[in-house]
Amino acid sequence: MPLLPLGDAAGRTRWTIEHEGRSFAVFVVGGQHYVTDARCPHNGGPLSEGWVRGERELVCPWHWYRFDLRTGRCATTDRHELGRYPVHERDGELVTEVPEPAPVRSWSEILRAHAAGER
Ligand code: FES
Repeated sequence: MPLLPLGDAAGRTRWTIEHEGRSFAVFVVGGQHYVTDARCPHNGGPLSEGWVRGERELVCPWHWYRFDLRTGRCATTDRHELGRYPVHERDGELVTEVPEPAPVRSWSEILRAHAAGER
């Protein structure tokens, strides 16, 4: 799995990092770093522009769905879950471990998977 450096917070509490066409959001809450998908699983809202309430609740700026930064669980509906990625320290630098990008599929493969009830 790719390890992505989080970079220097430089006083920020939220920012995004990019890797191979994908975006991830980084949040610093109470000194703890959290990495999530940058886009909301509901409809793609920019989560780094949302706000954090309390110790761990992230609110999407588009429709205000609420997510737990620790678990990814959505408090608004159980139909969505936020992708979260572990943070490690490597050689004095914070990195996150993200999955390999999904393989590119043809329309035929996408439609067959959809017909079979897969995503
Ligand atoms: S896009 Fe985030 S709540 Fe709708």
